[in-house]
Amino acid sequence: MAAEARQIVMAGADERDLTKLAEYEAIGGYQALQKARGMTPAAIIDELNASELRGRGGAFFPTGRKWSFVPKPDQNPNPHYLVVNADESEPGSFKDNEIMARVPHRFIEGCLITAYAVDSKNVFVYIRGEYTGPYEVLVGALEELHGRADLRGEVTIVLHRGAGAYICGEETALLESLEGERGQPRTKPPFPAIAGLYASPTVVNNVETMATVPPIITMGGAEYAKLGVPDSRGTRLVSLSGHIVNGGNYEVENGISMRDLIYGLGGGIPEGRRLKCVIPGGSSTAILRYDEIDVGYDFNSLLRLDTAMGSAGVIVLDERCCMVQLGIRVNEFYEHESCGKCTPCREGTRWMSQILRRLEAGDADQHELDLLLDVCDRINGKCLCPLGETAAIAVASYVAKFREEFQAHIDEDGCPFGDSSPLHGVLAPVAQHTHHPTATVPA
Ligand SMILES: Cc1cc2nc3c(=O)[nH]c(=O)nc-3n(C[C@H](O)[C@H](O)[C@H](O)COP(=O)(O)O)c2cc1C
Ligand code: SF4
Repeated sequence: MAAEARQIVMAGADERDLTKLAEYEAIGGYQALQKARGMTPAAIIDELNASELRGRGGAFFPTGRKWSFVPKPDQNPNPHYLVVNADESEPGSFKDNEIMARVPHRFIEGCLITAYAVDSKNVFVYIRGEYTGPYEVLVGALEELHGRADLRGEVTIVLHRGAGAYICGEETALLESLEGERGQPRTKPPFPAIAGLYASPTVVNNVETMATVPPIITMGGAEYAKLGVPDSRGTRLVSLSGHIVNGGNYEVENGISMRDLIYGLGGGIPEGRRLKCVIPGGSSTAILRYDEIDVGYDFNSLLRLDTAMGSAGVIVLDERCCMVQLGIRVNEFYEHESCGKCTPCREGTRWMSQILRRLEAGDADQHELDLLLDVCDRINGKCLCPLGETAAIAVASYVAKFREEFQAHIDEDGCPFGDSSPLHGVLAPVAQHTHHPTATVPA
């Protein structure tokens, strides 16, 4: 598939100021909502099923199927809720920010269609606290909508600002936080569709998922499903960052080659440097080496390489990047963001940081490299939510694909890259933990 942008979610935003209701309506905005309200909720869900849309928040769950799990009013008389996940805190991901900031009405229209389809009168948008710009845009868009009872109907949309915890992007931690509790994941089942917010049936969907709903209703599910590749239909907003000439968000058809994404739309690596590796789906995904990028950017193709599209944050790293320093940065983010509820995640990520720090400082013994992998292995599959294991999967992939570099840190009593590894500004800054240099590691 050639490297070209294909605008479905962002359509019209380059030509007009779609933050204004009048401008959005001028390009047919809110007509999908009118069309949807002329359909039955079941017919809307059929259309979503036909589109084969899968959630854009990272877990890839089929959207229509999720909506169909919500009990009918005669099965559960509790109010139904729609909760939109706008927490977007994964390092490398910044697409939802742009959707809310530039096409707020398409996003709101998607929320109103979804609310109708799942019989909800209350929509909560849980937005990352630091996203002040998109928040202001949404406030403006909702104020405009307030005077338009014909559009908003009886639905109330509440914007709820998060307080800065990555774990509150996990859907059940998000629900806890919305209820005013500490943001920690719940055990599942029950899943939110059965017992979510205030123990009532709740659909949790990502911002991009919501903004994709109006175009699907407009063009029809079957037509939308012609875009992309099997299991990854339609378009995806990809956030390109790191050592790349043209960083930013690009809406592309699923299945585009990663090489085209990086060297076509992204313009390649600055100053002609060589590619070292790519984080394909936000910092929680396993790395691809420079010689693995002739692959389609879609669910199945990346799965075959034991990695994932995740939240579509593509982080490009050039030849100057130290993999141990990368491991420290990525892992310390997850260590810091661990909610602490389960021991393998809470203690394991801390232990991983200690070993990685010792490797970087030249203090690690030979056995600690295998110990690092052993700790990763003991986190994997033993946690309540995916946060712990994503840290383990990511770091283990750095060792698997660049083991000789980890070994060099032991053989050369420290980092071969020293201070020259250019990670500043690429990923979350490393937290300063005084316990690391003095930490002891059991033999
Ligand atoms: C640690 C963690 C953080 C997450 N952060 C986000 C997030 O910021 N935004 C998001 O939409 N989904 C996030 N998710 C996925 C959500 O739990 C959930 O699958 C998603 O919001 C469902 O929406 P979708 O089906 O439309 O993708 C996160 C999951 C985990 C485990
Ligand atoms: S895996 Fe980590 S973040 Fe998730 S519930 Fe357990 S301790 Fe909390």
